[in-house]
Amino acid sequence: MSDALNYLVKARPEAMGHYFAFLKDCGKQLDPKTRALISLITKVHAQTERGFRQYLGRALREGCTPAEVLDALLMAFPALGLAKIVWAVDIILAMGLPAFQPAALGAAGEWHDVLATKGFKAGETRRVECDGRGLFVHRHGKGWRVFDSRCPHQTTDIPHLALEGATLTCPKHQWAFDIRTGACIRIGDKALTQWECKVVKGRLMARW
Ligand code: FES
Repeated sequence: MSDALNYLVKARPEAMGHYFAFLKDCGKQLDPKTRALISLITKVHAQTERGFRQYLGRALREGCTPAEVLDALLMAFPALGLAKIVWAVDIILAMGLPAFQPAALGAAGEWHDVLATKGFKAGETRRVECDGRGLFVHRHGKGWRVFDSRCPHQTTDIPHLALEGATLTCPKHQWAFDIRTGACIRIGDKALTQWECKVVKGRLMARW
């Protein structure tokens, strides 16, 4: 909520209480995903960045997929216009959410040069930065796995310190992952986002 709304809630609690009750009542016939998407579009229309970030998180928590969020934005084109849609997509990109990357949406994505494979031992895991994304790279035997460092729960950027043996524990709500597979092994229910990878002339490449 904005500072101004916070202020009004404190300064005029009764009037603002009616306002919030009105908003709550308006959406009670809608399912949570539809309600979340409509709220999200209102934030794009008003161009309130903090509200947009907050409502995007809420929409994803309610089960909206990134493809549904993009569809909602595009469907609102007649009301929003292209400039506001681009404004919203710029914020989504700045948030670095793995689920919105083209490769995660089923598009081709782009190959990125991650690191030199020489000296990287089997069983080893490293956290690296590559073209603006944090990655956990794990080598198993002759194979490789590349995971996004953003937590699949609420996109916390997980640091290297969170890795203990083969277990990566997100510091925010303690979801734990097996870094050898990306599977969630404690508390949560979603795996780390894994990017396709390949070795080309001694360089590990990943696509997102
Ligand atoms: S953001 Fe990682 S466990 Fe919640």
